[in-house]
Amino acid sequence: MKWNVIRIAAVAACTLGSAAASAQSVEVMHWWTSGGEGAAIGVLKKDLESRGIQWIDMAVSGGGGEAAMTALRARAVAGNPPTSAQFLGMAVVDWANEDFLSDLTEVATKENWDRSIPPALQRFAKFKGKYVAVPVNIHRPHWLWMNARIFNDNGLRPPTTWDEFNATADKLKAKGILPLAMGGQPFQEATAWESVVLGLGGPDFYRKAVIEADPASMKSATMLKVFDQMRKLRGYVDRNFAGRDWNLATSMVIKGDAAMQLMGDWVKGELIAAKGTPGKEVLCIVAPGTQGSFLFNTDFFAMFKVGGNRRAMQLTMASAVMNPTFQETFNLAKGSIPARSDVPMDKFDACGKQSAADLKAATAANHVYGSLAHGHAQPAAMQRAYLDVITKHFNSDMSSKDAAEALAKAVVAAR
Ligand code: BGC
Repeated sequence: MKWNVIRIAAVAACTLGSAAASAQSVEVMHWWTSGGEGAAIGVLKKDLESRGIQWIDMAVSGGGGEAAMTALRARAVAGNPPTSAQFLGMAVVDWANEDFLSDLTEVATKENWDRSIPPALQRFAKFKGKYVAVPVNIHRPHWLWMNARIFNDNGLRPPTTWDEFNATADKLKAKGILPLAMGGQPFQEATAWESVVLGLGGPDFYRKAVIEADPASMKSATMLKVFDQMRKLRGYVDRNFAGRDWNLATSMVIKGDAAMQLMGDWVKGELIAAKGTPGKEVLCIVAPGTQGSFLFNTDFFAMFKVGGNRRAMQLTMASAVMNPTFQETFNLAKGSIPARSDVPMDKFDACGKQSAADLKAATAANHVYGSLAHGHAQPAAMQRAYLDVITKHFNSDMSSKDAAEALAKAVVAAR
């Protein structure tokens, strides 16, 4: 009730427009602040500037975008939203539901987006049959990154099962090499957790436990194994992991201060920004046991109902983001693959090519699912219920049984 009143006032104030943004500019909120992310957003900024549109940057750092969403909410409630913002899929649906987003169908129809955007992404880009967001990429969050030199020097092979992963990590630990670079932040722990769920349980278990939030699967023997594996991972990270940003963990792997990282392919953006070649100094393989499935998260840009002649800029920006050449250049820097299904992959590195081929195969096998950690499996409140338990378990001595029970309870309560 209270929220509705605030929202109506906010929408009314929106039509006055933000003080910062003029008719020839777009103010864009995003959370792309690491080296690779900065390079990718730079591609968009340059593209828009070449069209005579000034870029007003509103970056809020914090992987996974939690902090950005909080800041965005504050601006929107105050009646001063940016022209456009970066969203993960479920957030698009939430904000569209609250009637904040502007209709892009006019440009979508003209450019026939239906033909080039895969149905799995249209599910988030469209609200009640109308386009309200533009997808810029397809990220895959379940990868394992490995320092090639450490693996070569120690005669190790990339692990393809969780048992192999543990054996590899134990060997490294015995030699005094830090096995796993990680940052203690809920989205990082959840990124690892969903890889373990998929890797140990398989796609049907992921569907039940994550997409359907089925309490019985939370209490299953498989879920106990998942939390056992998370406890093992906790033993492979260093003491200073709490609060470390994901990109700092990545640089530990690049420098050889740690052997591996479990993280999405935005890691590749860091490698490229550091003048490395993904698959060379740092090797990529899908997280153990997850071969054949594809979890995804997509970054969308949605436009706020700001009114006035800023709408023309918004339609131009939407069209620019969907441009095939732009999608190629942007995704080469970002580490993801294009959201459009008609962009050639020949300029992409081996990990990117693998991602595109795996997506095709997983789509045919019906094993493509949204990422929980990255806003494509559950709405915010339910996602929070999962993340709270995952984080609490990882950062305490909670038993697997207690964690599984807590998860089943939290999920029922969040329904
Ligand atoms: C976003 C990526 C971003 C990553 C780390 C994910 O949720 O989809 O674009 O690079 O978070 O910030």
